[in-house]
Amino acid sequence: MAIQRLVEPTLPDEPTPEEIKVEVSLRPTHFSEYIGQERLKKNLKLAIDAAKKRGEPIDHVLLYGPPGLGKTTMAGVIANEMGVGLRVTAGPAIERAGDLASILTNLNDGDVLFIDEIHRLSRAVEEILYSAMEDFKLDIVIGKGPAARSVRLDLPKFTVIGATTRTGSLAAPLRDRFGHLYRLEFYSPDDIQKIITRSANILQTKISDTAAKSLSERSRQTPRIANRLLKRVRDFADVNGDGIIDDNLTNKALMMMEIDELGLDPADRQMLTAIYENYGDHTVGLNTIAALTGDEATTIEDFYEPYLLQIGFIERTPRGRKVTPKAVRHIQNKS
Ligand SMILES: Nc1ncnc2c1ncn2[C@@H]1O[C@H](COP(=O)(O)OP(=O)(O)OP(=O)(O)O)[C@@H](O)[C@H]1O
Ligand SMILES: [Mg+2]
Repeated sequence: MAIQRLVEPTLPDEPTPEEIKVEVSLRPTHFSEYIGQERLKKNLKLAIDAAKKRGEPIDHVLLYGPPGLGKTTMAGVIANEMGVGLRVTAGPAIERAGDLASILTNLNDGDVLFIDEIHRLSRAVEEILYSAMEDFKLDIVIGKGPAARSVRLDLPKFTVIGATTRTGSLAAPLRDRFGHLYRLEFYSPDDIQKIITRSANILQTKISDTAAKSLSERSRQTPRIANRLLKRVRDFADVNGDGIIDDNLTNKALMMMEIDELGLDPADRQMLTAIYENYGDHTVGLNTIAALTGDEATTIEDFYEPYLLQIGFIERTPRGRKVTPKAVRHIQNKS
């Protein structure tokens, strides 16, 4: 039986156009503004310096990790730091081989081609991409039937930056063509607090240090959620206060959104409760969880689970998932 959702989950919903506008304005454009992910930045800076010295593009980069941790942002930073153009597309948007061919032939030397959701490329498109990434050649077939012939076109030298929430679904030959593979890590509360303070500055909103700290603890260690909470609390402060975000307003706003001190919202708690009530501490398959909550299995895997795994509320075994005693204590405390 599917559980009735009392509140729409805050996480998996698509950003609204207004949110996208704000997200763009808050997006760091250079390494100096990109907070955290020190290992990633160190490696990429080195690669960029070396590439610039040689006058070549950097090797292809694959960024993977849960949503909202800064993959798209990093692609833009890399292009800016290299001083090259950025072309943005996404796996599902490239339907036919011809679509990719036209994107590739329109690139300039050194450009970055950002392919979001790269795990969703079709096989046919993927195969074109292989030789493009490896030799900067485009193999195309001209004509049909017996008269068809294949030609090889030279492409400009470019860098593919691929982003995916799941490396597991990426074909091995594609994965192997990336010189750099990086997993984006969840952020420390300190780094999230810096991101909140930076965003508040850009949005010209005053926020106290303690309010920024308590928001940072509820942001699921994720910049996108930090920015989203900040904006919601800012709205709340504009309506219910004098626009200055202090502790008191922050707590009230979070309570209204039913976001607890770990950043879990009602949907997370309902999912954990449903698993525990039906299966106790036994292992349960992903599809069964999906049936319980009425979500898609991929939504659970991409949006809910990464943070719950990160904080040790869910354990993943070869036979499925189970809720941990720590999670049980938490949800029992809340009910
Ligand atoms: N390191 C960072 N420093 C400051 N802000 C950041 C950082 N990383 C991400 N952000 C903020 O979080 C927002 C979300 O990041 P981004 O869109 O790059 O995530 P993503 O990993 O591409 O997510 P998705 O998988 O959903 O595409 C950005 O608009 C940006 O403002
Ligand atoms: Mg993205």
